[in-house]
Amino acid sequence: MFKKTLNPPNNTVFWLTGRIKVALVGIGNCFSGLIQGIEYYRKNPSQEVTGIIHDKLAGYGIHDIDFVCGFDVGENKVGKLLHEAIYEFPNMVNWIPKDELPKTSAKVYESPILDGVGLWVENRIKPITSTKNPEQIADDVKKILKDTGAEIIVSYLPVGSDRVTEFWAQICLDTNIAFVNCIPSFIASDEKWAKKFEEKNIPCIGDDIKGQVGATIVHRTLAKLCSDRGTKIEKTYQINVGGNTDFLNMKEQDRLVSKKISKTESVQSQLKERLDDDQIYVGPSDFIPFLGNTKLMFMRIEGRQWANIPYNMEVRLEVDDKANSAGIVIDAIRLAKIALDRGLGGPIKPASAYLMKHPIEQMSDIAAKTACEKFVAGE
Ligand SMILES: NC(=O)c1ccc[n+]([C@@H]2O[C@H](COP(=O)([O-])OP(=O)(O)OC[C@H]3O[C@@H](n4cnc5c(N)ncnc54)[C@H](O)[C@@H]3O)[C@@H](O)[C@H]2O)c1
Repeated sequence: MFKKTLNPPNNTVFWLTGRIKVALVGIGNCFSGLIQGIEYYRKNPSQEVTGIIHDKLAGYGIHDIDFVCGFDVGENKVGKLLHEAIYEFPNMVNWIPKDELPKTSAKVYESPILDGVGLWVENRIKPITSTKNPEQIADDVKKILKDTGAEIIVSYLPVGSDRVTEFWAQICLDTNIAFVNCIPSFIASDEKWAKKFEEKNIPCIGDDIKGQVGATIVHRTLAKLCSDRGTKIEKTYQINVGGNTDFLNMKEQDRLVSKKISKTESVQSQLKERLDDDQIYVGPSDFIPFLGNTKLMFMRIEGRQWANIPYNMEVRLEVDDKANSAGIVIDAIRLAKIALDRGLGGPIKPASAYLMKHPIEQMSDIAAKTACEKFVAGE
């Protein structure tokens, strides 16, 4: 497929090649799961690809993505090739043996640390000793992005990386590259940043990726059910534990502010009547080392039915958190590419509402899926 796009960002000439060139920021477990999952389906072509919107989105399949470069701060990742870096400690996804993953020439380069590495993960992620300031790194990054032809940047930085996220959002604006922001540092849902992406006609999808069947989607679906059935929800909580660096990092309460907002609002947005702040608790709660990438979620809803009679429900969800997120980001990447092809800029609302916890415009999950289908169909 070779054709010229109609209305590209800032009149840049884009030739549609049928491939999607993606740069990755934060080469941790989520990216490892994304890359190894794509390889899993390549090796097992008879397997149905589970959980995605469709095999092909406007012609793009899951094998049409080229990861052209990566950015990190870990001294054991920077300088390595992507197919090696994704297996480096403390990453722990191991679905495809390392020596069976196809080799790539895409390299991992330096990202500025800024607020990237948290207190608790310092003994697991040893950052490179950089000789450059963020401006110098930005100059290098822009050259790498140009040389590799990247058209979308996907960020999987640690929670609490607000300054680094802004660095990468600005890089997108300076280089006309689309942004998929999988973490709860608000860009696509922040009016100031959303306007900047709109003005430059560059698509962004965010913020904070949902899981395929993750804690947030289960909680908000059940909360919506209780609300739609007319019962009165009085209080609810959701606590999550896991054993990877993501959970270790989230022990640092100061880095968690936006994560709590993102997860809590995602549930509140589905209720007819908002709960008082002290009647809802939604958050990651602890790190249990032996759980690895397994995440456990415990959720409780308490409310009242006919004649003021109380009811409650409890759910325990056990899920591989990395499979959960990779199956969603694969759609976010393809939807960002569709937006680029069609010359659309600013927050892509249907994609953000369906795939992200904290979009600029919340919808019910059913309405968001319908809106996404219409977007793909070009309606
Ligand atoms: N289901 C899910 O897994 C899910 C859902 C929603 C959001 N998220 C978010 O996605 C993010 C990534 O999760 P993960 O499990 O891959 O985390 P991870 O800890 O495995 O990986 C983070 C990576 O970022 C790198 N990094 C740290 N500071 C950096 C900087 N300044 N610049 C570039 N890279 C830097 C680290 O070296 C590491 O390689 C987290 O914020 C997580 O909360 C995950």
